[in-house]
Amino acid sequence: MRGSKLCRMPNNMIAMFKGLLFLSTLLNGIGLARADNPIVQTIYTTDPAPLVYNGRVYVYTGHDENGSTTFNMIDWHLYSSADMVNWQDHGSPASLTTFSWATANAWAGQVIPRNGKFYFYVPVRHNSGAMAIGVGVSDSITGPFIDALGHPLVQNNEIDPTVFIDDDGQAYLYWGNPDLWYVKLNQDMISFSGSGPTQIPLTVQGFGARSGNAQRPTTFEEAPWVYKRNGIYYLIYAANCCSEDIRYSTGTSATGPWTYRGVIMPTQGSSFTNHPGIIDFNNNSYFFYHNGALPGGGGYSRSVAVERFNYNSDGTIPTIQMTTQGVPQIGSLDPYVRQEAETIAWSSGVQTETCSEGGIDVSYINNGAYIKVKGVDFRNGAKTFITRVASATSGGKIELRLGSVSGTLVGTCTVSDTGGWQTWTTVTCPVSGATGKQDLFFRFTGGSGYLFNFNWWKFE
Ligand SMILES: *[C@@H]1O[C@H](CO)[C@@H](O)[C@H](O)[C@H]1NC(C)=O
Ligand SMILES: *[C@@H]1O[C@H](CO)[C@@H](O)[C@H](O)[C@H]1NC(C)=O
Repeated sequence: MRGSKLCRMPNNMIAMFKGLLFLSTLLNGIGLARADNPIVQTIYTTDPAPLVYNGRVYVYTGHDENGSTTFNMIDWHLYSSADMVNWQDHGSPASLTTFSWATANAWAGQVIPRNGKFYFYVPVRHNSGAMAIGVGVSDSITGPFIDALGHPLVQNNEIDPTVFIDDDGQAYLYWGNPDLWYVKLNQDMISFSGSGPTQIPLTVQGFGARSGNAQRPTTFEEAPWVYKRNGIYYLIYAANCCSEDIRYSTGTSATGPWTYRGVIMPTQGSSFTNHPGIIDFNNNSYFFYHNGALPGGGGYSRSVAVERFNYNSDGTIPTIQMTTQGVPQIGSLDPYVRQEAETIAWSSGVQTETCSEGGIDVSYINNGAYIKVKGVDFRNGAKTFITRVASATSGGKIELRLGSVSGTLVGTCTVSDTGGWQTWTTVTCPVSGATGKQDLFFRFTGGSGYLFNFNWWKFE
């Protein structure tokens, strides 16, 4: 700009300005390298619904199609972790096609276990045109889920189900936008008796006052998340649309009365919606949400992230800010047992797909792509790397690096043409210098185009 202030700055100020620019570039670089949020980089994920089960955290998510300009969503995805930083991709446990009567809008759902089965409550558009809540059921936490009813469980053109089972065994389904509803579910989790859906009065006292909007006297918008902890019932929700923040109320029973408690996560993060999910795991408390923090991210290309927090001694929840660092690792990852290639702390330039050998594999790998696995404990040292790979082209190399994508090279494995993208072979290569607890980087190199697929790995 001609005559701009910068041009007229004294030299020492320009030097300082450049110094600050350099410092912030450096810090950004470090921040990016250390980032563990968002927790999934291979696709855009939304509306996290975490579930603690058998020593792991499972997070069911929605899925924004890349390049969307609306909430055009067709399937749900699932990720799990034992250490909160390395997340295993379980693919898609359910989609619109699970519900023959659904035509669009695979929006925010939640899974709960009961009766030795898993129940997945989801909002979808019914072929009548209205939004409805369907329920899927599966014998496995990873699905596939099938339609439990063949028709909606409830239908009143409102969305965002959350499900909760109280200590007395009574289950509740809550949902709503712009109102808030609940129904008491029967033991079978797929029916209810009595009068059916009840509206929860959104009193100003229970849900925070919104000024100057007679249509919406409270800040409640959508995305309720209900649970009980130390005798207190919590109702967390997206509020103050739009851009939304996350607020909460507490109650003395599963049906209230509710007392407004304030903002948990202020508006931030370049997505005009947000969606909460809270769990305790391994004596820590975690807050899941979504934002637009992945490259290309925004209101229709969102990503799930997580922060750790401590409840105040009176059970209230502190203000939680979005971070790119994410949460500390619990323990470490064992490289001497088979690990799935799709267990990822951070990745760049890879995707995942259904594997012919079961589960998921890492696919569409280009030259220069990488996967970071955090906190791998090599202990006294690894001698050999073993991996399951496939390629329909001339393959490439897997470089094993420590600390960063350009860190110390401790081994290189060559992958050749195996005769097909799902024609798997086991490849072994020597390793030296891998000891102690390290962030392990798989760096993929080769020619142009897709190089090979990557199913699992282990060290010996
Ligand atoms: C979205 O598509 C762009 C262009 O193909 C690609 O570079 C990017 O990695 C994709 N992002 C996600 C999260 O799928
Ligand atoms: C959680 O804390 C309790 C009490 O301090 C302890 O007994 C228990 O082993 C801890 N659990 C985990 C998983 O760390």
